[in-house]
Amino acid sequence: MKRVGILTGGGDSSGINKAIVTTVGMLVNADIEAVGIQNGWQGLLDEKWDTLELESCRQWEYQPGTLLGTARTNPFASGQEQQLLTNLDRAQLDGLIAIGGDDTLSVAQRLSSLGVPIVGIPQTIDNDVYGTERCLGFDTALHAIAQSVNSVRNSNNAHERDMLVEVMGRETGWLAILSALLIGADYVLCPELNTSIDGLIERFRQRSSQGCHSCVAVVAEGFDISSRSNMEIADDFGNFELEGIAYSIAQLVGQRTRKKPRVLVMGYLQRGGNPTPTDLLLATRFAARAVSSLVQGNTGTMTALRQGAIVDVPLTEVIGKKQYVTDQWLQLTSLELDL
Ligand code: F6P
Repeated sequence: MKRVGILTGGGDSSGINKAIVTTVGMLVNADIEAVGIQNGWQGLLDEKWDTLELESCRQWEYQPGTLLGTARTNPFASGQEQQLLTNLDRAQLDGLIAIGGDDTLSVAQRLSSLGVPIVGIPQTIDNDVYGTERCLGFDTALHAIAQSVNSVRNSNNAHERDMLVEVMGRETGWLAILSALLIGADYVLCPELNTSIDGLIERFRQRSSQGCHSCVAVVAEGFDISSRSNMEIADDFGNFELEGIAYSIAQLVGQRTRKKPRVLVMGYLQRGGNPTPTDLLLATRFAARAVSSLVQGNTGTMTALRQGAIVDVPLTEVIGKKQYVTDQWLQLTSLELDL
């Protein structure tokens, strides 16, 4: 193996750069040239690739974002499959490491089925990639949410305002549920729990009669998707733009209670911030495993965290499924928030 390409696709998160640095370092140690592909799959179509030097990558090691850039291009959906394969030949790569969420990894799986040696690393703040207990970036996103909520809490208390905190996560509630536990929220609305706007209003009333002046609920951006109309498709993978549901909920609560909660949409703040030690170490472990799997020919796989160990999972077992919040977390949340 002489040349290996690395790319990052989809929504970025903190911790990716550490994974890139470890990957490059391990490749260099094995006398393999590391080739950085710009902007995910789009970079292969645009022939944007170059050798990665370890020392220059190191300057990015602890930075959020991705030094390689990213995009939500799906060459298989946009009819550019042939171009992709031709350019892969041109790049003269003996293997590829793709870092991203289920969309990026679905392209990796298609390429693998066409004979391209490829290994995936699960990275998304949504933590919804099937087959791994953790995705890179999730822990830092939780940290960012807790920090932001704590920053505005005193102000809300002072004004006796209730607050809705909207977090990302698409069709899953990992960020919503774990952040609700982290910040000690009064209620949570997310896809996996049978909670409702009526329930939220009732909970806020109850808490206020107990003397709480400033209630907090966490709202997953993907809450109640099925009842929404006019959602815009945001990318080649058919993902909808979900942001903003908390504003309509606040409106509704305001109409019914005459106390409209204030809204904090976490948005892209969730993707920033210094990567946490947990994410940095996960990045290193995933990257080291990805390189050794690729070198050993164990390709068409994704690195995964399972019961504390890093393992390989065939991409065919990952794609087409979603990892929803597990029953254990749901039970704990129900107990803790008295749902
Ligand atoms: O896929 C990760 C994610 O952060 C989702 O939680 C969110 O819905 C989406 O990206 C937002 O995507 P974009 O960066 O394209 O607005």
